[in-house]
Amino acid sequence: MPETAGKTLAAFARLREQIDIALEAVLPPADLEPTELHQAMRYSVLAGGKRIRPILAITSYHSSGGKSDKIFRYASALELLHTYSLIHDDLPCMDDDDFRRGKPTLHKQFSEYIAVLAGDALHALAFEVLAESGNCEVVLEVSRAIGTVGMIGGQVRDVQAEGLEVTLADVENIHRRKTAALITASVKIGALLANAPRPQVKLLEQFGERLGLAFQIVDDILDVEGDFETLGKSVGSDDRLAKATYPKVIGLEASKKIAADLIADAKAALEPFSDREVFWQLADYILARQT
Ligand code: IPE
Ligand code: IPE
Ligand code: MG
Ligand code: MG
Ligand code: MG
Repeated sequence: MPETAGKTLAAFARLREQIDIALEAVLPPADLEPTELHQAMRYSVLAGGKRIRPILAITSYHSSGGKSDKIFRYASALELLHTYSLIHDDLPCMDDDDFRRGKPTLHKQFSEYIAVLAGDALHALAFEVLAESGNCEVVLEVSRAIGTVGMIGGQVRDVQAEGLEVTLADVENIHRRKTAALITASVKIGALLANAPRPQVKLLEQFGERLGLAFQIVDDILDVEGDFETLGKSVGSDDRLAKATYPKVIGLEASKKIAADLIADAKAALEPFSDREVFWQLADYILARQT
């Protein structure tokens, strides 16, 4: 591994520690009534995870000149939203998965009604935290990214497409919505919170869109080729449900090629950006990840 890449990975690990501290502070304490709900929220959020969305927001904020430590708190809201989406995604009525982040899924460990409501509570808490920023554009950006045009719309199409013959355009649309929308918003809100100039926000948005789509394609590939222990979640889940995935529609090799091309395009979008190196390392990490 080149020395700069090693340094950047260490920097991401340090960011992850700071994000975990912010999450710990944002989450209600486990002994607060209703204790089962708060324990459930903490169980899923603090189980680990790569923290990609907050890392992207913080990186974008810092490279846009932002200086306040409050960014850790606002960025943690993205992780609350992402974790809520995973809890609901794993439910028996959706992907019906038993493992997440190396542990039993929330509905397995607690119960289905607690999993539904813990997800709802994380959703509400995230917007409470984002609203503290006083930045309406940030709240709008995130609401749209996870709403019907974005994540939730994508999740609906994902379930509806199970077992169907789908085209590459269909699966691209699903992936852009269910995953790339929140990743794009994460990159974008870091820049917005730092009051970055509009052309810079635009470049970062393009980067996020390409990176976000590549991220879900790599997730599809790992569902075929990945390892349960390393991933901390079941493999073969997509095949079991005949999901619309890139490997199903175009095969593994073509999927890998598209993911690599998207990562190259994502990096190219930031060519004019002086602080591009750290984003390039993040993009390489997302393509090469095994977890
Ligand atoms: C998994 O997301 C679900 C997708 C949107 C592909 P991550 O791969 O970011 O999961 P964690 O947060 O690291 O557990
Ligand atoms: C999940 O996609 C996307 C969201 C939760 C919005 P997947 O269903 O592919 O995620 P995993 O593979 O269960 O993590
Ligand atoms: Mg799913
Ligand atoms: Mg799933
Ligand atoms: Mg998946």
